[in-house]
Amino acid sequence: MTNTIKKLAVIGGTGLTELEGLEIIESKEVATPYGKPSGPLVFGKLDGKEVIFLARHGNPHRIPPHEVNYAANIFALKQEGVTSIIGVNAVGGIEYLMGPAHVVIPDQLIDYTHSRKNTYFEGEIDAVTHIDFSYPYTESVRQLLIDAAEAHDVAYSDYGVYACTQGPRLETAAEVARLERDGCHIIGMTGMPEAALAAELEIEYACLALVVNWAAGKTANIITMDEIDQAIDEGMGYVRQILVETIKQ
Ligand code: HPA
Repeated sequence: MTNTIKKLAVIGGTGLTELEGLEIIESKEVATPYGKPSGPLVFGKLDGKEVIFLARHGNPHRIPPHEVNYAANIFALKQEGVTSIIGVNAVGGIEYLMGPAHVVIPDQLIDYTHSRKNTYFEGEIDAVTHIDFSYPYTESVRQLLIDAAEAHDVAYSDYGVYACTQGPRLETAAEVARLERDGCHIIGMTGMPEAALAAELEIEYACLALVVNWAAGKTANIITMDEIDQAIDEGMGYVRQILVETIKQ
């Protein structure tokens, strides 16, 4: 599959507030008609290739998933001419193959969020618009991530249904059982409306997810921040390797 990326942005999630190795050229505060993005847009070069980095929760990490201004973030990147976005997300694992420190490049999602601004097509608009969202992730970008994971011998899955929950609390065991019955493999709180807003602005989008805990009820233990931090320490290195390899391609 051909590389269709012309101008790439990476949106970093929990555990990725900075892109290590990024040679920073400029850090720019920008405004959008939808308000301010989560933080400055960081323009830089990674391995000689240009990339824009944005920390989804701000840097330091302070904006909870349901309060991220996704519309401003995506619009700000569009204003800079970004054509492709890789969204990095920390997730819980439901599927037995997708335990802590496993990398998942999902191919589908189900949106369980509510009360978030989830479209640009409302208010003062000329025409009602319904985008096609059958396949929420851009296959060519997904393929670059998969090739990069393959090249680095990382434990990863090239498929997965991402359940996006509202948060900020984690789920109950019964909620996770329901998500599993729905066909979900991983759960996060930040994949939507980010993917849909990118699609509305015709920006290619793919998700690079790192499992940081077993989802609620999947082990005998409750979920602790210590466990999550440990998985982030172990797995974010893989995520960085995949990003560098993808940007180089
Ligand atoms: N559920 C929802 N979001 C998450 C989880 C989880 O278990 N882990 C990391 N983000």
